[in-house]
Amino acid sequence: MTQGFEIGARAKARCDLMGAAPFSEADDMLVRRFLTSAHKAALDTLKFWMEEAGMSARLDAAGNLVGRYEGATPGAPALLIGSHIDSVRNGGRYDGALGVMLAIDVIEAFHRQGRRLHFAIEAIAFGDEEGSRFPASMACSRAVAGTVDPKVMEMTDAEGTSLAQAFAAFGLDPTRLTEAARKPGEVFAFLEAHIEQGPVLEAEGLALGVVSAIAAQKRLMVRFKGMAGHAGTTPMGLRKDPGPAAAEAVLALERVCREGPLAGTDGLVGTVGRLTALPGAFNVIPGAVEFSMDIRAETSATRDAAVEAVTAEIEAIAARRGLAVSVTLMQALAESPCDTGLTDLLSAAVADQGGPARRLPSGAGHDAMVIADLCPTAMLFIRCEGGISHNPAEAVTDSDCALAAQAMVGFVERLAAQGPRPSTGSG
Ligand code: GLV
Ligand code: MN
Ligand code: MN
Repeated sequence: MTQGFEIGARAKARCDLMGAAPFSEADDMLVRRFLTSAHKAALDTLKFWMEEAGMSARLDAAGNLVGRYEGATPGAPALLIGSHIDSVRNGGRYDGALGVMLAIDVIEAFHRQGRRLHFAIEAIAFGDEEGSRFPASMACSRAVAGTVDPKVMEMTDAEGTSLAQAFAAFGLDPTRLTEAARKPGEVFAFLEAHIEQGPVLEAEGLALGVVSAIAAQKRLMVRFKGMAGHAGTTPMGLRKDPGPAAAEAVLALERVCREGPLAGTDGLVGTVGRLTALPGAFNVIPGAVEFSMDIRAETSATRDAAVEAVTAEIEAIAARRGLAVSVTLMQALAESPCDTGLTDLLSAAVADQGGPARRLPSGAGHDAMVIADLCPTAMLFIRCEGGISHNPAEAVTDSDCALAAQAMVGFVERLAAQGPRPSTGSG
């Protein structure tokens, strides 16, 4: 169908616009964390774009912006399309945002034709997928899926602000978080488009791919506690320095994932993305060192075996060095297979754009893995240059974004062709 605007390319341009202040917290990089002024600026503009695209838009109780394009019958179950609008620190412009902008383009394509389907279509901009402000991620999509634990409100950011305080400062009521949950039957399917964040599609010369499943992941915080002291006066043999213990632990994680018996199994990967020595000064032996661990694999079993192996090594390091240690689980997400019926439909829609519909697993986490508790899900991947992501160098082309949007429109058309209560497969 013709849209009267550059479908897909416009989505990319909107991501580019949102790559800088006021949609970023900083002038020299993109960082748009949950419930910040940059998040607010993004929501205000997204709301305008959603309304312009024929939707009624509302902020839900969890800080997600939801735009609804009614079907032929008001109140019909909805196909939900979207992704997250937050970013990592110094991130790229398309991780998450592109999936939100594409959802708006796809809905606007139907709106401009005055077409109402047997079902409603909703666009959603999830507030926090990355966990770049608060330590656990995807609280917003969990709230929509009805699986969020209200205790997340106790989490604090680096400044000590609790999620509850951040909600209140944003004008949201922290006690109403769970009201964002969608009722069974209200949403019958979820489609998320996202840049691949890996090199497979580019290597194979493909613009689009269809996700088969999303990898399991765990986030943990490790804290070695020693004794703070003077860096000039405390002899090496008399220190309780958690710094070298943390260094050993980082290497242990790498060994478990890279060389140990589990290495190479189910795409196992492990990352220390944040490491902090406290109090943090040239001339102070740290009293404590904290670091994050992110461990992922295509199966929870392999992920958990790696967590166990590295935890045992960390405890042994602490014992050998006479330090206290704690390993705290911050988040666990099971692997999430995409729905087979929806994935077949999406593959057919991709093939209509000149395919082939390459299927590939996702090592990155996505809101779709949480929304799978609510309804069947499908995911479309878009080639990104060099497979680079979580980096300002993230890049996509207008033509790939156009193909993605057309494939998404085709997916919606195919769902519509199935009649009023689309069968979404077994999942
Ligand atoms: C999100 O980008 C994640 O995979 O952690
Ligand atoms: Mn990301
Ligand atoms: Mn993402």
